[in-house]
Amino acid sequence: MPSTKQVVLNAPLDMHLHLRDGEMLENIALCSAQTFSAAIIMPNLVPPVSTKEEVVAYKKRIEHAIADEKFTPYMTLFFKPSYDKVFLESVKDHITAIKLYPAGITTNSEGGVSGFDVEELRPALSAMAALGIPLCVHGETNGFVMDREAEFVSIYEKLASAFPDLKIIMEHITTKESVAALDKFENLYATITVHHLLITLDDVAGGMLQPHLFCKPIAKRPEDREALLKVALEAHPKVMFGSDSAPHPKHAKESCGCAAGVFTSPIALQLLTEIFEKNNVSFDKLQVFVSGNAQNIYGVTPPAKTVVLEKKPFKVPSNYNGVVPMYANETLAYRIKEVNHG
Ligand code: NCD
Ligand code: ZN
Repeated sequence: MPSTKQVVLNAPLDMHLHLRDGEMLENIALCSAQTFSAAIIMPNLVPPVSTKEEVVAYKKRIEHAIADEKFTPYMTLFFKPSYDKVFLESVKDHITAIKLYPAGITTNSEGGVSGFDVEELRPALSAMAALGIPLCVHGETNGFVMDREAEFVSIYEKLASAFPDLKIIMEHITTKESVAALDKFENLYATITVHHLLITLDDVAGGMLQPHLFCKPIAKRPEDREALLKVALEAHPKVMFGSDSAPHPKHAKESCGCAAGVFTSPIALQLLTEIFEKNNVSFDKLQVFVSGNAQNIYGVTPPAKTVVLEKKPFKVPSNYNGVVPMYANETLAYRIKEVNHG
């Protein structure tokens, strides 16, 4: 009998994750902690995480929710132009990055940045550069929804040239324009989600509206997906996997006024494995995309964890503690066989 195909991933990392708070945190934290070694935790709570006390307390709540799992939450703060050197020095040992949201662009981002005036941002961003704190950016303008990310590329370029020593991570990129920007500036990096490697706007709104595929930034055109796939599959050294898994309660998704966010953490590694296989790309590249590049870019050493996937049909549950995942009730080609620690 032919043996079942297996794929082994070491220390998978999710470099963009929403773990939420309270009951939702308790309900979904294990979906990440069981299969990933570590993740960059987004700070867009209500109110946003923006003080040392808040980030320390949030980390404790995450550690409580993940119980005994070996999983490191890499904490972030919600960027404010008022952050100064003294404050950043006091908080730097508690965080891995700072996340910048343009004001009002996505879930809980009302207190974000408007205008992107370099001089206004200079004190905070040059202090971050000096202290080696990377800046993660949600790169969308408030223009026409399909153009928002491409329009933001000029802001990325302005920031990248004004602060050459600052590591800037273009979060959850969805366009060929963002992919092209990667090679123009040494200090620009990117995360890519699994859903943006799979879907286009057609999957969201081309037929019956699919609320569980609705997210910010919205999925774009086939040529954009191709550009993302190219750099992900070659494990371009400046791109990392970041799920942007963003759970919302079922009633907030299946409603008039659907919340933005796709919940992928429990199926991300299975889907990534299938994508690399379908494209005939060596799983060594997947290992680099899902862990190696992030370790190099962020200079982190995650806890040891080995995830063994096997090629056996996996029916995605209809929900995880009430949260509907992407591809609910559909069958994936790979399932997680076991996870080993140490
Ligand atoms: C995220 C959320 O729900 O917090 N939503 C999303 O559509 N991705 C916020 C974000 O990352 O934009
Ligand atoms: Zn996000």
